[in-house]
Amino acid sequence: MNILVVDDDRFNLKIAEDLIKNNITDCSVFLCSIPDKTLTELAAHDIDIILLDIIMPGITGIELLKIIRSQNEYKDIQIIMFTGIKDRESFKACFENGANDYINKPINFIEFIARVKASIKARKSILSLIKLNKTITGQYKKLRTMTQELKNTQFSLLQKEKLAALGEIAAGIAHEINNPIGFIASNLTTMNSYMRKIKEIRYQYKEFFQTVSNETTLSNRLIEAKNNIISREKEQKIDFIMDDLDAIIAESLEGTARISKIVGSMQEFAKTGTEDKMTHNNFNQIIDECLLIIKHDIKSAAEIDRQLQKNLYLSCNKGEIGQVILNILLNSIYAIKTTSVGKGKITIKAYDSAEYIFCIISDTGSGIKEEDLSRIFDPFFTTKDVGHGVGLGLSVAYDIVVKKHNGSLSATSKLSEGTTFTIKLPKEHKY
Ligand SMILES: Nc1ncnc2c1ncn2[C@@H]1O[C@H](COP(=O)(O)OP(=O)(O)OP(=O)(O)O)[C@@H](O)[C@H]1O
Ligand SMILES: [Mg+2]
Repeated sequence: MNILVVDDDRFNLKIAEDLIKNNITDCSVFLCSIPDKTLTELAAHDIDIILLDIIMPGITGIELLKIIRSQNEYKDIQIIMFTGIKDRESFKACFENGANDYINKPINFIEFIARVKASIKARKSILSLIKLNKTITGQYKKLRTMTQELKNTQFSLLQKEKLAALGEIAAGIAHEINNPIGFIASNLTTMNSYMRKIKEIRYQYKEFFQTVSNETTLSNRLIEAKNNIISREKEQKIDFIMDDLDAIIAESLEGTARISKIVGSMQEFAKTGTEDKMTHNNFNQIIDECLLIIKHDIKSAAEIDRQLQKNLYLSCNKGEIGQVILNILLNSIYAIKTTSVGKGKITIKAYDSAEYIFCIISDTGSGIKEEDLSRIFDPFFTTKDVGHGVGLGLSVAYDIVVKKHNGSLSATSKLSEGTTFTIKLPKEHKY
């Protein structure tokens, strides 16, 4: 324990020092006869207990007491007022301003030692409480980090399980839909070619009717039969039907193409394992190839800001990583097109650390609502209009980056400002 005695009377200082040194072990005593130097002494010796005289020249003990207590670092030290005065008001002022105890002057040896010892005990209790508090705070922080880590692990496990389960369902459904949609599309194409033939023949009938209409020698029976056919055609709106059939077939073919696309994405989503090998790839080349594929879409929607560090290589499944980049870029283009601002901007940054490649894709699109942000990686979550999105792009991307490449994929977004996706991929693939 470090004890500081502050008194302008050197005689009192000497008595206090002797008493403490002779009666209390494990103590260092510091003496201060110039009250103005109290704070310097306090700072210099890491003081636990102060014995503070009340009446001193210049600054009084009570004023010093106020100053000491106003400083946060000294809020827990023990302060014993050391005084010959007996008036109640002074005592009241001492306790109100944070004194812990007082010792009467002239010094009574027994009382002095007893009070200092009590103060040491109190200080020790406070110190162990402070230590305990620190340990508890540290453990609480550790616990909080662990809980957060646990939550993250639980989230990614759930995500993986969900994806695996949905993958199986998607594969099953896709397989079931694939066959019928295949023959419907093929029948529609055949029907289309039949229609062309029927139209051609019908055109010839019409020409024939035109020719016989000019014939004067035609019997009444033939004229009646011809007129009957023409009026039946009118009644049944055959001209309209022939025209509409074209549109119906074209629309149906478009519908089947759309279903095939959905089935394709579902099969892609359901693909587990790594059929394609992990190979050594130039990451920037993958990005440039993706940009080339969607060059036409980008042109009208956004300006591209490529900030790619040179020589980024990683071991990955090139096709799959390309698909991730494509899905993210296509979403960005769509998000920009839905804003009324006109042409937007997509920034693609890529750089590496010793172990990872980071790719950050940001857009100035519509942004994502806060309540939707946690759902964008869920399979089939989409905010796009019917026919525009299946809601599989990002869950496929998540599956590829997290499950197949042991990386991470996350997004931040601000509504009406834009969205940023961060992809982190290990350079070396660990099986
Ligand atoms: N850059 C973005 N800006 C705004 N919203 C986005 C962005 N990227 C994703 N989203 C939101 O996340 C949803 C899910 O995206 P995801 O790519 O999985 O499906 P999708 O684009 O709707 O359909 P698809 O299966 O055709 O990709 C989108 O519908 C959209 O609401
Ligand atoms: Mg998408």
